[in-house]
Amino acid sequence: MNDEVKKGLLGIVVDETEVSKVMPEINSLTYRGYAAQDLCAACRFEEVAYLILNKDLPNSIQLKKFEKEERENRELTKNLYEIINHMPKKSHPMDVARTAVSVMGLEDKETSNSSHEANMRKALRIFAKTPTAIAAFYRIRKGKKIIKPKKTLSFSENFFYMCFGKVPEKEIVKAFDVSLILYAEHSFNVSTFTARTITSSLSDIHGAITGAIASLKGPLHGGANEEVMHMMKKIKKPENALKWINEALDKKHVVMGFGHRVYKSGDSRVPTMREYFKKVAKIKKDKIFEKIYDIVEKVMIKRKNIYPNVDYPTGPTYHLMGFDTDFFTPIFVISRITGWSAHIMEQHAANKLIRPLAKYKGSTHRKVLQLNQR
Ligand code: CMC
Repeated sequence: MNDEVKKGLLGIVVDETEVSKVMPEINSLTYRGYAAQDLCAACRFEEVAYLILNKDLPNSIQLKKFEKEERENRELTKNLYEIINHMPKKSHPMDVARTAVSVMGLEDKETSNSSHEANMRKALRIFAKTPTAIAAFYRIRKGKKIIKPKKTLSFSENFFYMCFGKVPEKEIVKAFDVSLILYAEHSFNVSTFTARTITSSLSDIHGAITGAIASLKGPLHGGANEEVMHMMKKIKKPENALKWINEALDKKHVVMGFGHRVYKSGDSRVPTMREYFKKVAKIKKDKIFEKIYDIVEKVMIKRKNIYPNVDYPTGPTYHLMGFDTDFFTPIFVISRITGWSAHIMEQHAANKLIRPLAKYKGSTHRKVLQLNQR
């Protein structure tokens, strides 16, 4: 038996997928064959969510039906609102999101039914309800009244409305929608692999998404968008940026928002998100973070040849939109639920228990001594 260790499963192909691929020939992330940036230009987030879940872009009738179902399922149970209300105010919102999805699993009438049809219905419910749970906590911890979801608003508009009580300018909503499209799916990243691993024991979709949220929280994955903002706040002024980044690299620190396991010469999602970051900065009349962004990026490429990933522009964009920093990764969650769900259903459709091997490096065989002899 070959017992060569491939730490981090580096370079290992563990299964097949139809959901997404980074296509080298067009140097782009694609969902079901469509380039993510083309989807940003032509579609709203709901269309892309439909595409990821249903394998094709919707026509107007299909979209209308999908949006109606999403809007009708946004409301939480009284029980879940109460649970969120009782969570410690200091909780990280990712832990709140994780717990909320877990509770949704306790409450869902189809939890034990993992047929494709039931999973589609449950995915839709998780997709519709999770933003409400996150926004409810956003309000509660600020001591503000919860704002219930509004059916007349789009997915993105409604999220702003539930958090802030109003819908911002069209351009801001579009920038948010674009960020959700870019975050929706990325093949076998760690959270998706977690969801597929949980699913591979034939466990249920709520459990798999709960585990995926825990996985996304880490700073090497989704948590990076929050870390980017912490870094930018530490740098504070463009005049400090050059010194800060050079010192960080001299000390061999990992700089958040840079590098990627798959892209080695640039994340194809970055140019689109960078463009929308610029638009938001212009509307908000705040160029400070853009200047810091450019200086840090330049040094990272020059000194390390390491390029930004999508978390680098989303961090400051969400900040300028008015979100608290620890809500950035939960925003990633509300989008990635679509990708996770598609992978969970794909795993169910052609399942094989995920059970890798490990090279043992512990003690050789030992005899157990009775307690009084040890
Ligand atoms: N800052 C400084 N050095 C870096 C960075 C970085 N952000 N990323 C990679 N390197 C260096 C790393 O130290 C290593 O150097 P050496 O060979 O001298 O030890 C080399 O580049 C290869 O990196 P690696 O960590 O072995 O590569 P990986 O494929 O295992 O890791 C990564 C990919 C994303 C975990 C890593 O680039 C990283 O830690 N980045 C910062 C966290 C981050 O931004 N995560 C978001 C990922 S993308 C979107 C998402 O999933 O949310």
